[in-house]
Amino acid sequence: MRPKGLVIAIDGPAGVGKSTVGKMVAARVGYSFVSTGKMYRALAWKALELGLDLGDDAGLVALAGRLKWEFPKGAGPEADVAIDGRTLDREITDERVGKASSGIAKLAGVRLFMKDMQRLAGIDGGVVMEGRDIGSNVFPDAELKVYLDASPQARAERRAQQLRAQGLEADLEQILDFIVKRDAQDSGRKNNPLVKAPDAHYLDSTSVPREKVVDAIVELFERARKAF
Ligand code: DC
Repeated sequence: MRPKGLVIAIDGPAGVGKSTVGKMVAARVGYSFVSTGKMYRALAWKALELGLDLGDDAGLVALAGRLKWEFPKGAGPEADVAIDGRTLDREITDERVGKASSGIAKLAGVRLFMKDMQRLAGIDGGVVMEGRDIGSNVFPDAELKVYLDASPQARAERRAQQLRAQGLEADLEQILDFIVKRDAQDSGRKNNPLVKAPDAHYLDSTSVPREKVVDAIVELFERARKAF
């Protein structure tokens, strides 16, 4: 058993609600929440700022090593991502950074750097960590693994609703196109692609409300806790 509790790994494709669900689970069980996508986004954002070649694995690893990475506690259960003392939030959420992060996430050296950092962030347990390869690669030893899925159409519709609720414009066809391309890139890459770990629980949330998905994961957590 780890000093602070279990590691709960949540993996799944873009826009499936891993962050929303993961934060709700973390709040319910009193754990912290770590989004590993934000780490890839932070590095991609910095590389874009510096005008670096996004295909240069060694250059990106050198950059990542020079940065001071911190994961201070945020407002809710979520840990923030800060590099060189700057907490990154809105600047890393747009599609430009999203696409760049998916691109650099193909690179073996970048992935190794991220894996080491992510293991350090979660090794003591008491954490819900979401991403693409947490159960399959970063924490193959996680005490609870969930693979959250939903149809591309359902994910695109939810994303469009979210944007409209924020008063932003949303083109459903364009969002669907982004999602399908991102899925292909994240699942089709050679290094640690998005896959369901054999021992992960598969939850399809296409027509299941968020609260029910959270209930299901908390129930799995209670069972896993008894087993460890
Ligand atoms: O979840 P997100 O959209 O914030 O992640 C951005 C990109 O980072 C995603 O397209 C793929 C990559 N990523 C990854 O390869 N492995 C992870 N564990 C998390 C994210």
